[in-house]
Amino acid sequence: MNTRIHRRDALRMGAAAGLAAGVAPAVIAQAKPKPIRLGVVGVGGRGTHLLRLAINAGVEVPALCDIKEPNLNRAIGIVEQTRGNKPEGYSKGPKDYLRMLERDDLDAIICGTGMQVHAEICIAAMRAGKDALSEVAAAMTLDECWGLVRAQEETGRIYMMSENCCYWSHMLMVRKMAEEGLFGDITYAECGYVHDCRGLAFDGQGELTWRGEMARDYGGNLYPTHDLGPIAKCMGINRGDRLVSLVAMESRSDSIEGYVAKRFPADHPARKVSFNLADSTNVLIRTAKGVLIDQRFDMYSARPASGPYHALQGVKGSYDSRLKSIWIEGRSSGHKWEPQETYAEEFEHPLWTELAEKAKGSGHGGADFFVVYDFLETVRNGGPAPVDVYDAAAWSSIIPLSGKSIAEGGTVQEIPDFTNGKWKNG
Ligand SMILES: NC(=O)c1ccc[n+]([C@@H]2O[C@H](COP(=O)([O-])OP(=O)(O)OC[C@H]3O[C@@H](n4cnc5c(N)ncnc54)[C@H](O)[C@@H]3O)[C@@H](O)[C@H]2O)c1
Repeated sequence: MNTRIHRRDALRMGAAAGLAAGVAPAVIAQAKPKPIRLGVVGVGGRGTHLLRLAINAGVEVPALCDIKEPNLNRAIGIVEQTRGNKPEGYSKGPKDYLRMLERDDLDAIICGTGMQVHAEICIAAMRAGKDALSEVAAAMTLDECWGLVRAQEETGRIYMMSENCCYWSHMLMVRKMAEEGLFGDITYAECGYVHDCRGLAFDGQGELTWRGEMARDYGGNLYPTHDLGPIAKCMGINRGDRLVSLVAMESRSDSIEGYVAKRFPADHPARKVSFNLADSTNVLIRTAKGVLIDQRFDMYSARPASGPYHALQGVKGSYDSRLKSIWIEGRSSGHKWEPQETYAEEFEHPLWTELAEKAKGSGHGGADFFVVYDFLETVRNGGPAPVDVYDAAAWSSIIPLSGKSIAEGGTVQEIPDFTNGKWKNG
């Protein structure tokens, strides 16, 4: 992917250069892309946000699906206002997306439902001849991970996971530095998703949301891709190295119950929910090349807003997003960290050089723009996707495997090679 993203970037830069150099208007007109016909399954908070970004990028929206009619109607209204057509709505239960997928006027779908049904919807979409952008994580079980891989390989459709943190300008910069060898060979990485999301476990009526249901029903690291994804990209996971095994341990579960007791009266049904999820879960992952990744997941501890963090240790240098700092042996002065901005100009990724203005205000530091942009570019021009099915499967497999390791008292779990050996090709 590393080379692919750069090759595609070079093409885009070439196109921009062509305009600057005065390429004939006929050539430019020919290159004008045909609108992609997009459907969205799950138009809650995130699905609606991605829908808006896709509309801004010029897609047509013939159909939308959500099991909650108010959400569906809100999204239909957005399309009517912005594109002038009324998309057909699908709202007859949790499998109604299958009816939507029978349409022959859809090129691609975005899946913005809760995590538990991402894989079944995206597998069905690819098998129905549609490309798919899945929200994170891609899957909850190993069978679902394999199901996605097989569906993508057998259909040849585009599948991309919407891992927006991979597109943060500082992460793309650090990745470029890693690829150019500034840190030397990477030996260790640290990453975490530490974000107080207790308030998102219940909706306004005190019913469990899909997040709350996950915390009731599962243990382990339930949100592994925002932190592991960017690190895996920097390390060339699935492109020269791969995740091979993990062990996981967890703290006791405490904070959510205190939160529930404060928020709901003693006779409220929410007080009876028994949560499985620990306050903190740590996963240690090893790669084929012997890199150790220390990953923390904590969605329920009381703390001010934070989010994903990322750190890399190579034999020649180090990066730590919590310090917003970099140190490169022989380049940084003495043994002092340098602010990461020191490297911003020299190692800025071409996507940001070219499109930063358009990305402004699109959400998550501009990264959301790039997810939609890259997905639509891949649908238009052909794959593989920048965050492909092998990335999605490997990073999402942390969910079931960390849960299993914890349930077995901290046993080592093998991480499948979803690429079937292709990772060795670099
Ligand atoms: N990448 C990011 O930064 C980011 C940020 C927030 C959320 N997310 C991801 O986006 C997804 C959605 O999160 P959200 O906060 O928008 O949740 P949400 O509850 O607001 O939206 C989910 C929507 O999916 C609908 N839905 C559920 N099952 C369905 C089905 N079978 N068919 C059709 N519709 C269905 C729900 O009715 C709801 O409208 C999650 O997977 C989450 O992890 C990603």
